[in-house]
Amino acid sequence: MLNIGIAGLGFMGMIHYLAYEKLKGVKVAAVCETDAKKLAGDWRSIKGNFGPAGTMMDLSKLGRYSELEKLLADPKIDCVDICLPPAAHALFFPAWLLAAVVQPINALSFVTDGIHWGTGDFRYLRNAMFVATGAGALGLWGIEAAGIASLLWVWIVTDGWIVIRSAAGVLRVWPGIGAAPLAQPDRTPGLAASATGRGDAVPVHE
Ligand SMILES: NC(=O)c1ccc[n+]([C@@H]2O[C@H](COP(=O)([O-])OP(=O)(O)OC[C@H]3O[C@@H](n4cnc5c(N)ncnc54)[C@H](O)[C@@H]3O)[C@@H](O)[C@H]2O)c1
Repeated sequence: MLNIGIAGLGFMGMIHYLAYEKLKGVKVAAVCETDAKKLAGDWRSIKGNFGPAGTMMDLSKLGRYSELEKLLADPKIDCVDICLPPAAHALFFPAWLLAAVVQPINALSFVTDGIHWGTGDFRYLRNAMFVATGAGALGLWGIEAAGIASLLWVWIVTDGWIVIRSAAGVLRVWPGIGAAPLAQPDRTPGLAASATGRGDAVPVHE
């Protein structure tokens, strides 16, 4: 049985509620609404351009919340059906903003991945990926999935993973930690660059 939580008991929320009542394998287990009358089951003010008008409903067996975060945090809910007006999208805005802002940094790591791949710097690439992904996985593991603002935390941690990954890629190239892949071969007399061209020069024996 899939437990649904409906956010917003306007015309769409009501129509979806009535539709779920007719479906097998799903049930509405909770609702979320800021209007106290609708949350108490008085849906008589709801009407739309089609379908039935709202009536008095018995919602006593449902979880009832006036804050969306609490519905999202309800562990019994498998799926949240968002029937909120567009203005309520602001609730998701911080997470969406973080996801968008980090994308240029993410693109940078694709560029440096290409450099490290192209220069055969596979060991560094692997190690940097292990460190970044390990840190990210630990961070995600530490988030309370049903906690308040958990979506925002997922993106904070994901941004951290992306920043570590990009920083590792860039720092290897410039200023060049370890054997910088694009460093020029050492021109010191008596020394010749190794075949890798990474500046890890080897003495020449004549
Ligand atoms: N009405 C339609 O025919 C229709 C058709 C297709 C899509 N939609 C879309 O469906 C969504 C809902 O439309 P509607 O006509 O049901 O709107 P509505 O204004 O009738 O209902 C929205 C309900 O959400 C509640 N609400 C607002 N902010 C809330 C919050 N932060 N937490 C909990 N409850 C909150 C309001 O009190 C209201 O009861 C909109 O995005 C709309 O564009 C509507």
